[in-house]
Amino acid sequence: MKKKMNINKINNQITSCTQCILHKHRKNAVPGIGNICAEIMMIGEAPGIYEDELGLPFVGRAGHILYDILMDNGIPKSSLYITNVIKCRPPKNRIPNKKEINECKIYLMREINLIKPKIICIMGNIAYSTILGGKNIIKNRGRLVFHDNQRYFLTIHPAATIYNKNLFVLLKNDIQTLCEFISKY
Ligand code: URA
Repeated sequence: MKKKMNINKINNQITSCTQCILHKHRKNAVPGIGNICAEIMMIGEAPGIYEDELGLPFVGRAGHILYDILMDNGIPKSSLYITNVIKCRPPKNRIPNKKEINECKIYLMREINLIKPKIICIMGNIAYSTILGGKNIIKNRGRLVFHDNQRYFLTIHPAATIYNKNLFVLLKNDIQTLCEFISKY
């Protein structure tokens, strides 16, 4: 009950946030969504056009790709918590800048500290650099990282696989590896 109240509080902070310029362009801010008792938390980059329209993360093509792969591996959407580094859509889907990331990071940290998942799946370079200070997700994908008492798994962003079949295969392999890790812990 307390957890539910606290997530509502975080979501309200996100939807009323005016810290950076992105709030001026948004139709809706996009907080995370899902099971607040989830063992797996997935973190992407920023909302796109459909997410902005609906105020929900991963409702577009990238989300469909991701949920299909997860489902094939026996992980239903209902068992996850999914969110983004940035909660408002950057205009024309541009890469969020350092200032925007720094202003928004506090909400991501609040989400992580509340959900306390067994494993956090980092998807793409923006999430990788924001959370772990890492570079080059393609090179490091498929790895499990233990940092500050938290397990992380690294993979590519599902949107990167839309026009690249090779990356799609890599994402599929990574999610399978993630599932193997989860069954061990
Ligand atoms: N890409 C993301 O990183 N997040 C979304 O919510 C949708 C697409």
